Amino acid sequence: MNDNEVILAVAFSRESRNAARNAMAALKADKDGHSQAARLLRAISAGQEVHAKKLLMLLRGKLGSTEENIEVSVQKLEDAIADYPAMLDGLRENGDPAGESMLAQCLKTAMGHKGRLARLNGEKDVFYQVCGICGFIAEEAAPERCPVCGAVRNQFFSTA
Ligand SMILES: [Fe+2]
Repeated sequence: MNDNEVILAVAFSRESRNAARNAMAALKADKDGHSQAARLLRAISAGQEVHAKKLLMLLRGKLGSTEENIEVSVQKLEDAIADYPAMLDGLRENGDPAGESMLAQCLKTAMGHKGRLARLNGEKDVFYQVCGICGFIAEEAAPERCPVCGAVRNQFFSTA
């Protein structure tokens, strides 16, 4: 990476983290009865997601064909599946059970996501429900309980 790519990568990371943080803060604001704050935090989060996507486009160049993009997505999932076990060991050794639990969920869902991509060509008109707690993907209807994190059905959202 050259200096400009490092700057753009830092900005991408910051915008992505802030978008996620503000989305979570919006959920908390809703739960606490601060609906106006929740709406604004969601709007800011959405704006930061726009920034992150544009920064990523600058970093990686134009998107390829859908087939190429699926191949990249599979490779990125395989990278995560390869790297996360050692990272989990590090969290366990350093005594971070919350981080270990979250990364374990990331690993489990990455394996599931990779499997779904492998079956993509055989799927038509399938809609997906995503667990808002761990990222697990269910087909069609959300399960009663998430098989990865145990979240209840109403924690799932549609990405159609
Ligand atoms: Fe889940």
